[in-house]
Amino acid sequence: MKLERLKKGPIPRHLAIILDGNGRWAKRRALPRSVGHQVGANNIITIARLAEEIGIKHLTVYAFSTENWKRSKEEVDFLLNLPFDMYEKHKERLFAENKTIRLRQVGRTDRFPNKLKDLIDELEDKTKDFTGLTLNIAFDYGSYDELNQAIKRMTEDGKTSFNPDNIYPYLYVKEPVDLLIRTSGEQRLSNFLLYQASYAEFYFTKKHWPGFDKHEFIKAIKSYQRRDRRFGGRKE
Ligand code: IPE
Ligand code: IPE
Ligand code: MG
Repeated sequence: MKLERLKKGPIPRHLAIILDGNGRWAKRRALPRSVGHQVGANNIITIARLAEEIGIKHLTVYAFSTENWKRSKEEVDFLLNLPFDMYEKHKERLFAENKTIRLRQVGRTDRFPNKLKDLIDELEDKTKDFTGLTLNIAFDYGSYDELNQAIKRMTEDGKTSFNPDNIYPYLYVKEPVDLLIRTSGEQRLSNFLLYQASYAEFYFTKKHWPGFDKHEFIKAIKSYQRRDRRFGGRKE
C-alpha cells in the first residue's frame, strides 16, 4: 500500500511506541543484545521519517525506562553510548534534509553523564525550529517520575487541583496519545505515558522492534483507521 492512500484516512496526531524486543531479536539470530539495540536505534529514524511523511505531528518512543537501570552495567553503558553513535551516523541527513525532525529528550536528565547532557542540549537546540515532526525520545522516562515531578511543581505554583486542563504543561510529554504501539508481543505499559494514554488506541504486534518495518507501520496505521473512537460519548 502506498503512503498516499494511507494519508486519506484519519492519521494519529500523536503516535507513541514502546520499542520492545531488541534482545529477543538478537537472540534469535545468535547475536549479542547490543546488536539488537543498535539496529533498533537506527530503526527509530526510519519510522520517524515515515511518520513525518504521513503527517503525524508527535512521535514518542520509549527507549530507556526509569527501571532499565536495573540491567547489567554493561548493557546500561551500551545504551547510554548509543546516542553518540546515532548522532555520528545520522547528523548530516538530520540537519540537511528539509529541516523536519525536531528532537526532544523526555524524562530525567540528572542521572546522565555530562557529555550526554551536552549532546542532548546541542541536538535540541539545533533542531528547535524544525517544523515537521517532533520526535520525543523517552530516555530515563517513567510515568511515576513524570507525575511526581509535575505534581511537585504544580503544588509549588499554588495549584490545588490536577486535571487535563492544567497538568499537561508540567508533563514531559505534553500531548495526549492517539495510537500506542508495543512491539514484541507483551501487552503492558511498563510505566509509559500512563496519563497521556488515557484515551489512546492500542496496537500490539509480535514483531520485535528491529524488524518493525514500513509494512508493519502501515498495518498499525490501517488498524487505527478502523477504530471507532468514542471518548465516552456515543454516536446517535
Ligand atoms: C527494548 O528491548 C529496549 C530497551 C528496553 C532498552 P529489550 O532490551 O527490552 O529487549 P527484550 O525485551 O529483552 O527482548
Ligand atoms: C519497556 O520495556 C521499556 C522500554 C521499551 C524502554 P522493558 O523490556 O523494559 O519492559 P518489561 O520489563 O518487559 O516490562
Ligand atoms: Mg523488553
